[in-house]
Amino acid sequence: MKFLRKIKTMFVNIQKLMIRKTNPPQWHNLRRLEPISKVFGFDRGTPIDRIYTNDFLGKNKHHIKGIVCEIAESTYTRQFGNNVIKAEVLHYTNDNPNATIIGDLTKYENLPKDYLDCFICTVTLNFIYDYKEAIRGIFHMLKPEGVALVSVCGLVQISRYDYQRWGDYHRFSDMGIKKDFEEIFGNEIEVSTYGNVLAAVAELHGIAGEELSKDEIFYHDSDYQILITIVAKKTDKKS
Ligand SMILES: C[S@@+](CC[C@H](N)C(=O)[O-])C[C@H]1O[C@@H](n2cnc3c(N)ncnc32)[C@H](O)[C@@H]1O
Repeated sequence: MKFLRKIKTMFVNIQKLMIRKTNPPQWHNLRRLEPISKVFGFDRGTPIDRIYTNDFLGKNKHHIKGIVCEIAESTYTRQFGNNVIKAEVLHYTNDNPNATIIGDLTKYENLPKDYLDCFICTVTLNFIYDYKEAIRGIFHMLKPEGVALVSVCGLVQISRYDYQRWGDYHRFSDMGIKKDFEEIFGNEIEVSTYGNVLAAVAELHGIAGEELSKDEIFYHDSDYQILITIVAKKTDKKS
């Protein structure tokens, strides 16, 4: 018995060796311990996850109207908004000159209630330890029928800048974040993912979107979730 098991293990190991020899990775300049860009690719062009964010917001721009709030800046409100009455900027700390609302999304009793038509909350929940309470904060700030456009990262390196200030705590999957939003918003949510293995390698190295083709960036493989997006509508079914 023992002898047979040994033969089987040997056979399996030879099989694995054959696979390695016949289909070796061609590393070119990727066999390295430092990434190609240390700043997500901002120094080379547009980071892959930002291309996905632009695509997501472009497809949902009809929601960006009325009183709109964005985290830390109003870039996307200005880029994609239409009929925006007021562009609010929520910031966690009081050192951001663009901020019109200073506050913690997890301590939402102090934030305006039933106020926003649209909340653009891109790549923020990764940086909040109690992110479920922050989802309640988003819900709290939206008017009934208001819409949250949210993105979270699945496959991405630590953001040292955020880590050193408020923290970098979570990486998400569509399955997990869908349940989290459903618990608070009910069923009026749509969750999608962006990414594939090539785009994930590029994202982790900081290779810019401009260095891949559109087809390569947007090829969809739901096992490689670089960015997960959520459209969540506040209805009176949940509170
Ligand atoms: C990477 S930035 C994302 C914002 C930006 N608009 C974007 O699209 O990249 C992460 C933001 O999370 C904010 N943040 C961290 N903890 C927070 C909290 N408890 N409540 C509200 N914002 C928080 C930080 O202030 C920071 O602006």
